[in-house]
Amino acid sequence: MLGPFYIAGAPIVAVGTNLVGDNRGERVLLHGRVLDTEGKPIAGALLDFWQTNADGLYVQQDPTQSTYNLRCRMASDDEGRYALVTVKPRHYSVPYDGPGGDLLRAAERNAERPAHFHVLVTAPGHKRLVTEVFPDDDPFIDEDAVFAVRQTLVAHFERKSDASAAAPYEVEAPYCDVNFDFRLEAIEGA
Ligand SMILES: [Fe+2]
Repeated sequence: MLGPFYIAGAPIVAVGTNLVGDNRGERVLLHGRVLDTEGKPIAGALLDFWQTNADGLYVQQDPTQSTYNLRCRMASDDEGRYALVTVKPRHYSVPYDGPGGDLLRAAERNAERPAHFHVLVTAPGHKRLVTEVFPDDDPFIDEDAVFAVRQTLVAHFERKSDASAAAPYEVEAPYCDVNFDFRLEAIEGA
């Protein structure tokens, strides 16, 4: 799902960029590769990234955040790698004051979505991928109000008390290390 909180035109940044700025919250080093379905790296894939802050709010819901806070676009490097430093997003409630809320109540479901990163990945010759990455320790991981969680999209947020393994990145310890690969399907005949 692209969802209602995507904003086109986020700044294009280098692999390894730190997006934290003055955001508070648990630091996260999110990194991995963009691969094809055979596991071959895709260089120059464009990742378009957005998320809530640590309070579960997108910039559209919070006037204290700047337009592209915790958002960026990044091209994967020659080995298909991407990396960024950010803060851990938080679970949030979908609107439940309208018919959607009536449905959730009728089904005795909560209105919470587990925390997630949104990522849109594109590369020439491949199908566009719009996906989300969820922390494995989220309290709502098994009861997403909009049913978007898949086991393959749940990432382990590994807590590290020492930042030396992340020396190339400006990340302060303690932080969570998240290693997640995106896989793009080739367009046939492209
Ligand atoms: Fe979202």
